[in-house]
Amino acid sequence: MKEITITIDGQRVTVPEGTTVLEAARKINIDIPTLCYLKDINEIGACRMCVVEVKGARTLQASCVYPVTEGLEISTTSSRVRKARKVNLELILSNHNRECLTCVRSENCELQRLSKDLNVKEVSFQGQNDVFPLDTLSPSMVRDQSKCILCKRCISVCHDVQGVGVLGAANRGFDTKIEPVFDKSINDVACIYCGQCIVNCPVGALKEKDEIDKVWDVIGDPKKHVLVQTAPAVRAA
Ligand code: FES
Repeated sequence: MKEITITIDGQRVTVPEGTTVLEAARKINIDIPTLCYLKDINEIGACRMCVVEVKGARTLQASCVYPVTEGLEISTTSSRVRKARKVNLELILSNHNRECLTCVRSENCELQRLSKDLNVKEVSFQGQNDVFPLDTLSPSMVRDQSKCILCKRCISVCHDVQGVGVLGAANRGFDTKIEPVFDKSINDVACIYCGQCIVNCPVGALKEKDEIDKVWDVIGDPKKHVLVQTAPAVRAA
């Protein structure tokens, strides 16, 4: 296979044709932040956290989907790049339920880690902040759309890796949602409960059902659980 040599942050690296800038950077231990990227599984350039500056290109490019070409010169740390990543992250955070203290993924959340790494202390954008129903009807998992960052990693692992395909994206723009077909509960589609969507979710939008959730399934009306945004609010009602 043809070999391509490019320069990243002043370092030359040679990689096979077809390699992305992100993978070339990883080869020489240059860290580029990613959120939606899953190697060979979800390479869709959705989150734009991995943007880099390509010499000669007018706009910043998502390195996870940008193939190398001979002589490319890349900057991963210019002020333009750092500013763009921060703005992108703030935009994602602006529409994310940031009740981290009660989130099962707190301290193990890729979004939280990126916020620390990029030193995001406040979110400048108001965001849409829709209230979504919490799907607790499944015997083993809980889906919280208010925490979803639309990275589509769950869709790719469900469809392309597991061959199940019960999750998909619906609507456009601010109305975009990741959901089982026809906005059904995960309990009402052919989910096999493999848990791969949970494992690959970067945030707390999908989680295993814990013992407390199961108790509420037994003593409460499960239908109530899908009508409000957070489980504790349901329990208090
Ligand atoms: Fe490249 Fe999300 S990691 S766009």
